[in-house]
Amino acid sequence: MSAQQHFDVLIIGTGSAGLMSALQLSNDLSVALIAKDKLLEGSSYYAQGGVSAVLDIADNFQSHISDTLSTGCHLGDEKVIRFMVEHAPDAIQSLEQAGVIFTQEKDRYHLTTEGGHSNRRVAHVADKTGQSIQMNLLKSVRKKDNIHLFENFIAVDLLTKNNQCHGAYVLNKSSHKVENFIAHQTVIATGGASKSYLYTSNPDTSTGDGIAMAYRAQCNIVNMEFTQFHPTCLYHPHAKSFLISEALRGEGAKLTLPNGDAFMHKYDDRLELAPRDIVARAIDSEMKENGFDCVYLDISFKERAWIQAHFPTIDDKCASFGIDISQQPIPVVPAAHYTCGGIQTDLNARSNLNNLYAVGEVAHTGVHGANRMASNSLSECIVFAKTCAQHINQQPFKQPYPDFDNWDASKVSLSKEKVMVSHLWDDIRRIMWNFVGIVRSNKRLHTAQMRLTQIQNEVDEYYRSYLISSDLIELRNLITTAQIIVKSAISRTESRGLHYNIDYPNTSDIIKNTTIKL
Ligand code: SIN
Repeated sequence: MSAQQHFDVLIIGTGSAGLMSALQLSNDLSVALIAKDKLLEGSSYYAQGGVSAVLDIADNFQSHISDTLSTGCHLGDEKVIRFMVEHAPDAIQSLEQAGVIFTQEKDRYHLTTEGGHSNRRVAHVADKTGQSIQMNLLKSVRKKDNIHLFENFIAVDLLTKNNQCHGAYVLNKSSHKVENFIAHQTVIATGGASKSYLYTSNPDTSTGDGIAMAYRAQCNIVNMEFTQFHPTCLYHPHAKSFLISEALRGEGAKLTLPNGDAFMHKYDDRLELAPRDIVARAIDSEMKENGFDCVYLDISFKERAWIQAHFPTIDDKCASFGIDISQQPIPVVPAAHYTCGGIQTDLNARSNLNNLYAVGEVAHTGVHGANRMASNSLSECIVFAKTCAQHINQQPFKQPYPDFDNWDASKVSLSKEKVMVSHLWDDIRRIMWNFVGIVRSNKRLHTAQMRLTQIQNEVDEYYRSYLISSDLIELRNLITTAQIIVKSAISRTESRGLHYNIDYPNTSDIIKNTTIKL
């Protein structure tokens, strides 16, 4: 394979955002779609909840808009939220055209609810919504001759000239060679950065790659202080990153202390269906005050058959750890789940770097504000993947491709110190969990900043000295993203939504985004 490849469009990431963007592009465009791991190994695949959209006669657009704005503590952009809400029913249709069959009841969508929603509006495929979306989108993508799939190819950095993006340097993980993927238009769809925390619901791929690459290419990165902690991940020594969907609480599951007492009434009138920031903080507070390792989520009042029909994945997973959820409560803890900030984009998913688009969790469209409402992520992802592709389809594609030098590896050597990479990776995730978590303070944030700066220097030195590898690329992206999160958190001198700082416990009257730029 040559070191230079040319395509009309390069899409980095094969989650729902990347696959849907590729599917909506014109058949006469050549498209490269790269996955840094196996094709289905991203957060989208693990999404349990569903896709929010106004589909019920009793619901309406204004209610979905108001719920999104208020869950996001009024930091979201109403114009963008309206755009997403009005296009979300079409997004459901596009998914159905790709083969997704949403759960039905009496010939209608079975709509569930989650925190912050004042109506039932979450369309889902039992508790495997992401899996079904991913399998069907990938099947459709495979049928298109113009789309070329590259599995185990990880982007290193964007190729830029004169404030324009022209593709990316990409490491082929099989040949260990860096290749130039030169493209007229580039779409980043690499997902979020929750792997920067020690405990997360996300797979190993969520290392903030797209955010870090875009930052190095001078894109605006917005509102990165708002990491969403999902209130309920399974607490078990052998359960890595397993989510217990908020839809259980939507169907009446209760949060309890180890002695069986409910506690959400102490924190919010909406009890278990308060927005996620409130529920996660309530659990964190009960655990810290009482020294508990976890709290419990109880759905045992439902019949076994009902549980198996609605939550088969969760039921089976818990059973594999000896927990019968129809008989006993599930041990749960909060964990990092979703990056609400990201690369600043407009209604066409364009970043401030020409010919560079960002879609899905990696993007900051303005929908989520200070706290994403449950199941708005898949709606946002599909709606903006479509507008992104529509905008790209209208661009000219006749211009010659620019030249870029090949990757120069002549000044680096093979590392015999790989332990450094795993050690630094672990340090970052512990610092973020302990000092930049659910509850923050000025002292903790400044301590984190000092330690991360030291790690950044070590990573930079290592990167300059040794041959590039997938782990090193991810470590470099992780430290960059962690630094941006801390810088954003320090610059927000108020508490709002997911960002809670005990030194600024009040919410300011002035509503503004945090923008970080290199
Ligand atoms: C869940 O099922 O609880 C996750 C859904 C989401 O994060 O929107």
